[in-house]
Amino acid sequence: IFDWHRETAREGLAGDGVRFLEGPGAWAVHGHAEVQQVLTDHQVFSSDELRYSARPVPHRDNPVLGSLAAIDPPRHHLLRKLVSRAFTPRATQTLLPSITDTVRAQLAGVDGELDVIGRLGHPLPVRTISALLGVEPVRQPDFVRWTEAITSFAGSFTQDPARRAAFRTARAELSAYFREVFADRRDRPRDDIISVLLAAEPDGSRLTDDELLNFCALLLINGHETTRTLLVNTVLCLTAHPDALAELRANPDLVPTAIEEVLRFLPPIGGTDRFTTGPAGIAGHAIDPGQRVIAMILAANRDPRVFADPDRFRPDRAPGEHLSFGRGVHFCLGAHLARHQVAIAVRALLHRRPGPWSVGRIDTARTPVGIDVLDLALTGPDD
Ligand code: HEM
Repeated sequence: IFDWHRETAREGLAGDGVRFLEGPGAWAVHGHAEVQQVLTDHQVFSSDELRYSARPVPHRDNPVLGSLAAIDPPRHHLLRKLVSRAFTPRATQTLLPSITDTVRAQLAGVDGELDVIGRLGHPLPVRTISALLGVEPVRQPDFVRWTEAITSFAGSFTQDPARRAAFRTARAELSAYFREVFADRRDRPRDDIISVLLAAEPDGSRLTDDELLNFCALLLINGHETTRTLLVNTVLCLTAHPDALAELRANPDLVPTAIEEVLRFLPPIGGTDRFTTGPAGIAGHAIDPGQRVIAMILAANRDPRVFADPDRFRPDRAPGEHLSFGRGVHFCLGAHLARHQVAIAVRALLHRRPGPWSVGRIDTARTPVGIDVLDLALTGPDD
């Protein structure tokens, strides 16, 4: 995985870092300045694939395509203002005790080797998002199933009929479930974000049920795999860099800085798509309207014009300029929540004795350059 990130970034950054990829039929943009340009100039580079893509959109019924992440201002500003009520620093703080409890419970009673993905990588983000949304714990296995069925079809380029059928079923079940929850919270509001988001703002503005449904799906989809991947990538980096591991064990206050470097070095989202709203230009290339442009975060995070010695993992680097949570109006709403979850889990792992950790299979099928599943079994320190 280290080699793959390094080589993908190196190839991408060669020349002027902008090129047309025949396979996906998209422009890929790699330099830090150019990726920032694509992410921040939403008038030229739109997130609204359904509206601007010149090509047919294969997964039109993906709920994420109707969500906050896939619309532009001015509607985006309004929706973002409404949903931001659920992501204030205070709202995030109130989740920390339940994150700590989940980590403690998941690590309790594990003797010997710890499967990081099975014990923490899956359950932690799902439980956190469930707590945020106020979803019953008994439905959490469904959450995992729905997320996987949706992302493994809609997030990839497959047309496999079995995956399509699983996607459709998951989408229908997820909608039915959330519509029931909305009806319940309308009658009996609770202390959860769905109840908050169902209520109108003082000026009367509110989300429609469809917008709220798409937002719930977006949280599940954006908040689950990414956080899991960040945790796994942190374990990978620390396993491969025993000095860094020893340093963090001696001084756990360095954990947040080390996590920022993991985000730079192995970003969970390698790239994100935009669609040109009209004739566009980038680094001297003329791009036609309706073209897909992939902002390659993973390459931008290794641009030597911004990061010295970019292929080296330096846990004390404090890489403030990394683009792993995006930039501009779509900057990740869950960034603080993700950082907190992973920091709490890593601190607990650092002090866990006895037994090594291991990560099972890592699925990188949904990277923007379409690499297939990478099998990786790795065992960490045992002391
Ligand atoms: C947007 C990354 C965790 C919710 C984004 C974007 C990135 C990103 C790159 C911008 C995409 C774009 O501009 O096209 C990550 C990473 C995470 C993470 C790396 C974990 C390490 C989370 C979590 C949540 C979340 C835990 C919520 C529970 C969102 C939402 C958006 C978003 C709602 C859309 C914001 C908008 O369009 O205005 N995320 N994310 N993310 N993320 Fe995250």
